Amino acid sequence: MPELKRLQATHAPAVLAFELANRAYFAASISDRGDDFFDQFADRYNALLSEQEAGICAFYLLVAEDGSVLGRFNLVDIEDQTAELGYRVAQRVAGRGVATATVRELCRLATARHGLRTLRAAATHQNVASRKVLAKAGFVPVGPADPAHLGGKPGTWYQRDLMLQPLESGCPVAVL
Ligand SMILES: CC(C)(COP(=O)(O)OP(=O)(O)OC[C@H]1O[C@@H](n2cnc3c(N)ncnc32)[C@H](O)[C@@H]1OP(=O)(O)O)[C@@H](O)C(=O)NCCC(=O)NCCS
Repeated sequence: MPELKRLQATHAPAVLAFELANRAYFAASISDRGDDFFDQFADRYNALLSEQEAGICAFYLLVAEDGSVLGRFNLVDIEDQTAELGYRVAQRVAGRGVATATVRELCRLATARHGLRTLRAAATHQNVASRKVLAKAGFVPVGPADPAHLGGKPGTWYQRDLMLQPLESGCPVAVL
């Protein structure tokens, strides 16, 4: 069973492999990370660990039994019991409900583990899969997103009040 784990230093090779294998797939719907990201991966990765250590962000990986990364699910800019949610799922498991189930589980963890009350997420109008994930995880549209936040594309901010009745998780992952 895949496990949802906090990002750790030891995950670096698996995260890099995930980002490389899915680079073109992700770039079809969201901004490409750019060559610098891959050239400076170790530095960028260590910076993420520092942000997580400081409590500014909480990074999660969905890890398969063989140690490969199936998805990344992040809570960033944690402040005033609110955070921005971001996620990406490997092409090889696309369309199987992985993102939907894991976002639901992360909403539960956001409250239970991180004390958050609200999550927000921005998605472009054309990112149908992401908008479906957000809707199925209880997010509602709250207004237009600045295209600068979405690689120049128009989109919408979505928000979920975590204090409302939790959705049924049905999450096929173990949480560590
Ligand atoms: C968005 C993303 C995380 C969805 O992951 P996933 O695990 O495939 O999503 P799910 O299987 O939970 O599917 C959610 C819904 O989207 C649909 N969907 C999945 N891929 C789709 C696609 N390429 N086009 C249209 N719909 C799609 C699914 O059928 C499902 O809809 P349904 O419930 O009506 O059947 C994944 O496509 C991804 O990583 N994309 C690139 C990064 C990205 O866009 N991140 C979000 C930024 S806002």
